[in-house]
Amino acid sequence: MASIYIETFGCQMNEADSQYIANRASASGYAVTADAAQATVVVLNTCTVRDNAEKRAYGRMAHFKALKAANPSVKIVVCGCLAEQDRDRMQGKAPYVDAVFGTRDLARLGDALAEWHDAFAEDDEDLTEQRLLVDPLGGRGDCVGDAFAHVRAFVNVQRGCSYYCTYCIVPHVRGRFDNRPIGDILAECRRAIERGAREITLVGQTVNAYAEPASGADFADLLVAVAALDGLDRLTFLTSHPKDYTAKLAATMGALPQLNPRFHLPVQCGSDPILRRMNRKYTVANYRDKIALFRETCPDWALTTDLIVAFPGESDDDFEATLALCDEIGFAQAFMFVYSPRRGTPAALWDQIAPEIGNERLRRLAAVVDRHVRAWHERKRGTVVRALVQGPSRKDPAKIAAKTIDNVTVIAPLGSFSQAELAVRPWIDVRVDEAFTWGCAGELLATAERYDGAARRVDARATIDLIALR
Ligand code: SAH
Ligand code: SF4
Ligand code: F3S
Repeated sequence: MASIYIETFGCQMNEADSQYIANRASASGYAVTADAAQATVVVLNTCTVRDNAEKRAYGRMAHFKALKAANPSVKIVVCGCLAEQDRDRMQGKAPYVDAVFGTRDLARLGDALAEWHDAFAEDDEDLTEQRLLVDPLGGRGDCVGDAFAHVRAFVNVQRGCSYYCTYCIVPHVRGRFDNRPIGDILAECRRAIERGAREITLVGQTVNAYAEPASGADFADLLVAVAALDGLDRLTFLTSHPKDYTAKLAATMGALPQLNPRFHLPVQCGSDPILRRMNRKYTVANYRDKIALFRETCPDWALTTDLIVAFPGESDDDFEATLALCDEIGFAQAFMFVYSPRRGTPAALWDQIAPEIGNERLRRLAAVVDRHVRAWHERKRGTVVRALVQGPSRKDPAKIAAKTIDNVTVIAPLGSFSQAELAVRPWIDVRVDEAFTWGCAGELLATAERYDGAARRVDARATIDLIALR
């Protein structure tokens, strides 16, 4: 049987696109596999937001070349943002790649899969043994086909970005804003719920700038409409831009119980001159005001952010201001990056800061941020949290990893629970015994089918088993 393996790098845009590809492939008769060595088509959905994302994608392509060597009929497909950026030179850099689809060619990729399927059906032989040459691990991205893939759905509400931050490649590879009609978004959310999604993430690069072209409905209106869907378990959204965080949205967020209590609001840096040169469209004072509004309407929510250090022109004082802001706000999580010049963006042409300085600033920033992250996790110690399963822990497959609704990783030994049970009852209750910077660890007590559903405890299951034995 023809099968497809899809590996995803980058942000939720790509997650959403990979789910689209998986759905199109299933509809054409492919099995979606989590094992590249079994696949007749390997899809790499790439990112190019920083130089290391680009390097990693080329590394993965070279890695998959072995599949092709073992079985020339395997097709290697590259799509996503790097494919868009390097469309013309990819064939030169990686000649074994069979097809390259840019970010606007997803529907064409779906069509091509359908066409290829018939050819694969005629040539159906299993070359698995030869293909085991390929190491299934080793720096891979997320893949769509695992046992828990259905529990999370990423629904695009807006493609592209028109904000043109001076460091950012996204508008160049994804194009300008394109908001989808609410009817289409709701239909896709309904399909995701039917397929068993327990958490829907509405995604867009500045998702809270959403406006429906025809009706003028805004993002708060969209949230209300999605939250009202029958069968919806949990709802969340990524990524918001500070400029578009309004009092109406703040009030709506505080009023919708289906929303996960977490808000990602990238600040990037804590100094006005740098924010201006980044073209972020807000000042530090604006950002503080938004946070005050947020804390008032959504108390106890996790606030998370993105930060860039060593942006061209960042002085010691600018950097100290970022440190101070992070210490003042105390983010529950922050993604921190050293500025990485991207071809074709304005900041790439400016005077650059030496990498050693960038790395040193990143280290100092992480020390401040991590203290607050750890404290957020410490608050959970001794409590029982309900978290949505992700999959076996990468470090120890006897443990299961899950995410709380405020997006904290929790890990617990699987014990007598089975993965098959968790695929059906994907909410797990974990008693948190330990807190770390990366998340929490504890004991798995029970499972539930729905976020607000009844917990089934391990001892209750043991009783049922005993009754069955009599
Ligand atoms: N649309 C989102 C972020 C998209 S990219 C927003 O506006 O916040 C995700 C994060 O990558 C950004 O928030 C930024 O912190 C980081 N990033 C983007 N381009 C970068 C670059 N050239 N160098 C380093 N970090 C970058
Ligand atoms: Fe990039 Fe800025 Fe658009 Fe975010 S808002 S995607 S950082 S250009
Ligand atoms: Fe990367 Fe493209 Fe997202 S560049 S961060 S995958 S929009």
